[in-house]
Amino acid sequence: MLDRESLAVFSEVAKKLDSGFAELPAFQDQSPEMERLAEVLDATAERLKDNYPYFHPLYAGQMLKPPHPVARLAYALAMWINPNNHALDGGRATSAMEKEAVAEIAGMFGWKAFLGHLCGGGTMANLEALWVAGQLHPGKKILASEQAHYTHSRISGVLQLPFESVPADARGRMDMDALAKRLERSDVGTVVATIGTTATGSVDPLPEILALRAKHGFRIHADAAYGGYFLLAGNLEQEVAQAFIRIGEVDSIVIDPHKHGLQPYGCGCVLFRDPGVGRLYKHDSPYTYFSSGDLHLGEISLECSRPGAAAAALWATQKLLPLGKGGVFARGLENGRKAALALFGKLHTDMRFVTTFPPELDIVVFAPRGASVSQSSALSRKIFEAAAKRGLHLAVAELPIHFWVANLGNMKRDSGTLVCLRSVLMKPEHLDWIERIWELLSAATAEVLDAHHQ
Ligand SMILES: Cc1ncc(COP(=O)(O)O)c(C=O)c1O
Repeated sequence: MLDRESLAVFSEVAKKLDSGFAELPAFQDQSPEMERLAEVLDATAERLKDNYPYFHPLYAGQMLKPPHPVARLAYALAMWINPNNHALDGGRATSAMEKEAVAEIAGMFGWKAFLGHLCGGGTMANLEALWVAGQLHPGKKILASEQAHYTHSRISGVLQLPFESVPADARGRMDMDALAKRLERSDVGTVVATIGTTATGSVDPLPEILALRAKHGFRIHADAAYGGYFLLAGNLEQEVAQAFIRIGEVDSIVIDPHKHGLQPYGCGCVLFRDPGVGRLYKHDSPYTYFSSGDLHLGEISLECSRPGAAAAALWATQKLLPLGKGGVFARGLENGRKAALALFGKLHTDMRFVTTFPPELDIVVFAPRGASVSQSSALSRKIFEAAAKRGLHLAVAELPIHFWVANLGNMKRDSGTLVCLRSVLMKPEHLDWIERIWELLSAATAEVLDAHHQ
């Protein structure tokens, strides 16, 4: 788990950072007594053992992976300063790093002039995007697919914006007929296009949403918190790739470096195509912005204090792994997708399982075949546990029955939802581990089905 070589590099670069402040007079800091510190850290390590092994390829469940070593170390390095990117006074170097790193992300979507910054995560980033949307279209509805992240409806509640869900089609994407019909009422201000849903990685049909915008004139917010970086992957289906190609035409984008961008938690990013929306953030702060007339990030973000360390980590990661097509970073995403397709292929041809549509990004959902939908749901939960006992960690999700209908065969449809297994194959290493994952999944399934049939 621990990459000891990078720890050795860390102690060298920490000395380098220290040398930047060598001119200061010595002072007595609050260093704790080392023996006690070691004791407390030992207890901390003991407590942290109580976790799923998120860093290992056999953790193939939720949307979780460890940060890249360079991000982890750059973050830790910045902790010796603890910069605050709210204002230049609090984080001069890291504010500059944030502006550079965010410009690289915006550049990935083809945006040169834009407004954007880092924030706590996808929820905070979507809150800012909907806050801006609400101010530009006061009183008008926010629409998002019923497969959009659950926080959109909650955020709309917080902002007191009227929110409505649009049905999802059998592939988990926003249903375009339903959207077109709903738009006829002319009361919609913003449509949230989810570019990679949390449950199944489905990509809403952006080209069609853009065509509807041309007709009805609403705002489009792309929630690409999970899926955004797949823009760089060269192995997407044509239809999905078309959505990514046109993402730069939306009005705002959310992308989470702390999901596919290899960052520690606490790193979301919101981008606006029109830099003019900065005027909506205008506020007076008599005590924070006095060191220069340059832009302080707190002038264009809702949060006040923010970790400059998150910017240092992102900046360092993008230096090591630039956000280009065909590069090492892009290859990691392509490998995740290949792994998802490989697992889907095995499940699809094995009669013990029911599958849905092929994965559009790197998420696979599947369930064991039962006599009825409710029986299949119960078996899913048992396989989840049996796999975990064998060291394979999956996740469980509950999805509408119409996602599965084409593959249910003669299973009794006694429930409107199916509890299934879900696997986010988001680590580049997952591709090399797919045979082992399949072996463990297959054995856990055999065990559960044998016990069931006895
Ligand atoms: C599509 C999408 N939007 C928003 C979020 C919320 O992001 P966060 O958990 O960083 O707040 C998620 C989280 O999984 C997501 O998948």
